[in-house]
Amino acid sequence: MAQTVLVVDDESSLRKVLGATLRREGYNVVTAEDGEKAIARFDEGGIDVVVSDLVMPKRDGLDVLRHVLSRAPDVPVILITAHGTVDSAVAAIKAGAFDYITKPFDQAELRQVIAKAAKTRALSQRSGLSRESRHAIRLIGKSPAIQEVIRIIEKVADTPSTVLITGESGTGKELVAQALHNLSSRRNGPFIKINCAAIPKDLMEAELFGYERGAFTGAVTSKPGRFELADGGTLFLDEIGEIPVEMQVKLLRALQESEFERVGGVKTIRVDVRLIAATNRDLQKEIQEGRFREDLYYRLNVVPIVLPALRERREDIPLLADAFRQRFNRRLGKSVQRISPDAIAALQAYFWPGNVRELENVMERTLLFVEGDEIRLEDLPDFIRGAAAPAPAAEPVVQIPPLTSLPADASMKEIVKGATAAIEKDLIVRALEETGGNVTQSAKKLKISRKSLQNKMKEFGLRDSED
Ligand SMILES: Nc1ncnc2c1ncn2[C@@H]1O[C@H](COP(=O)(O)OP(=O)(O)OP(=O)(O)O)[C@@H](O)[C@H]1O
Ligand SMILES: [Mg+2]
Repeated sequence: MAQTVLVVDDESSLRKVLGATLRREGYNVVTAEDGEKAIARFDEGGIDVVVSDLVMPKRDGLDVLRHVLSRAPDVPVILITAHGTVDSAVAAIKAGAFDYITKPFDQAELRQVIAKAAKTRALSQRSGLSRESRHAIRLIGKSPAIQEVIRIIEKVADTPSTVLITGESGTGKELVAQALHNLSSRRNGPFIKINCAAIPKDLMEAELFGYERGAFTGAVTSKPGRFELADGGTLFLDEIGEIPVEMQVKLLRALQESEFERVGGVKTIRVDVRLIAATNRDLQKEIQEGRFREDLYYRLNVVPIVLPALRERREDIPLLADAFRQRFNRRLGKSVQRISPDAIAALQAYFWPGNVRELENVMERTLLFVEGDEIRLEDLPDFIRGAAAPAPAAEPVVQIPPLTSLPADASMKEIVKGATAAIEKDLIVRALEETGGNVTQSAKKLKISRKSLQNKMKEFGLRDSED
């Protein structure tokens, strides 16, 4: 589905040019002529990316930025500045803007910046990134694993050591990164985040280290990279496992020598940056397969923080569920008092492939619909109620029948084929049970494509709950 960009500028010609360019790129475009109207339009919903002029009558671009950050921090805001006001644009990035572009526009640069923002937005939507992830930094959990994480955070927050956070999607990696920053003496400095998965390979270097004017086509002005913007603060490299191998060399050098040059620049730049990296990939395996440099891994992994999957610390589920109950009561204006014991049991039994984020989303949805003052078992989504049923006994995947029971005319080949199908069906059923019938997640677990899983489900007469 096409993403919707809100274009805010007081000059109508600029709105037209920008709007036309973006529509040509396949985006839906809505416009507003000042900050006040932009904020009103934003609150109506449906906006994926905001492109706003910095200087405007009534509310200015920074007001728009602050509003979006408070409502939906995962909607990227790009600010437009005139040449010469780049300093304020840099300040805006430190305040949380996604990026800025300078007038007059360079079409290529404009397209790149918007595409990057749109991709970041799509990624955070896919993972359901919480609106509150920037603000809420309280790590909830009494499990030994979480207590240990909290202990490490408190111990290392105010040191310059690099931290590598690993864990499945939705386990709280960004929350930990933010906590490390907020508990450090850099807390008043910038917290700059870069999602390595959202940056095209050939733009990565410019993104990290900045570039000088004329360094490549589209580089109409010089621009500081994220390292420079994070000076005096924290740089959070999210999805570090996605960074191309060539860039890993450059990153390593910058880390080891604490200095770098902008792309196309000769001046050596030194910054004071605390680095935090995160990934949901298994970097050891990436190293073995030649996709991640071992030396960079050791440089990043000075302080490892491993976030366990939610299903590995089920004792935290009641606490988290209750914290989310309170949070969404507040946010949705509800007054649900408690969660019934059998509902808690079902929440604890479920597999949680999406971890804490999934629990958070389930609680939000449930609270939205619940009537009365208690969340009961029947208020929970089907796939979670299903998890409360006793798990099917894990029998051996395949049993070899005695030869005498085999059809006399079957060849070995045919028998093997039949057995293979039985194993496949068995594995698919198990994966579907574990994921509450989610085809995409099941395909991931089985390491086959979604399409071929669907074909096999058809072949075996298994219902696809998604259609
Ligand atoms: N221990 C926790 N206590 C309270 N909230 C948590 C905890 N862990 C995660 N959350 C919440 O769950 C959501 C997901 O966390 P976060 O975005 O940090 O995950 P992530 O590991 O970065 O995921 P991804 O790999 O998909 O980016 C956030 O809203 C976060 O606030
Ligand atoms: Mg994250």
